[in-house]
Amino acid sequence: MSVRKRVGVLISGNGSNLQALIDASYEQEYPAKIALVISNKSNAFGLRRAAKAAIPTCIFENKAYSNRENLERDINLALHKADCDIVCLAGFMQIFSQKFAETWEGKILNIHPSLLPSFKGLHAQRQALEAGVKITGCTVHLVTAKVDDGPIILQAAVPVMDKDNEASLSARILEQEHQIYQKGLAILATGLIQIKGRRTFIAQASSNMQHQAFSC
Ligand code: GRF
Repeated sequence: MSVRKRVGVLISGNGSNLQALIDASYEQEYPAKIALVISNKSNAFGLRRAAKAAIPTCIFENKAYSNRENLERDINLALHKADCDIVCLAGFMQIFSQKFAETWEGKILNIHPSLLPSFKGLHAQRQALEAGVKITGCTVHLVTAKVDDGPIILQAAVPVMDKDNEASLSARILEQEHQIYQKGLAILATGLIQIKGRRTFIAQASSNMQHQAFSC
């Protein structure tokens, strides 16, 4: 296997998506390794998950910074010091500047709990319930300066049940997030993505991954 890509994962909370990436990276053939976890909350549970997996962590709390530029500078520095090739946002509650997004262009992923471009921003599951859609889901996409707007890599559909509330729907979407985030990272880490405008195309070797993500 070629050298694994080194990944920095940015979190703010529970870190169940981080856990899914850590678990996937234990597979011998997985093309990425989690090299660093950064949190902007010192009490994020994801930090404990990282410690348990012996992954180095950094905490950069927003309140310690007078402006976003300095916070982003320190995040960038930490990612470079850890030799990260790829960044994964996993429930990271912070909007990046255009400069940061451009620095990592094509190498930074996010997971969002809706079928983008529907229901961008906060409380995507609540937005889906309020809109009355019968199918929602989750999306792995490349990050650009616009929030929840970059080219889509993978999506998984999740039906909305009559009995669903925000918690039950979020839980079922989260299960799918854990599946597609590690697949999306593998696709990026293997260099199999071609981007044409807003569309991404995944080379043959992993078309299976794309198919699987849709069959939930
Ligand atoms: C997930 O629903 C993710 O899609 C969103 O924030 C949540 C993070 O959950 N961006 P976790 O911290 O990974 O458990």
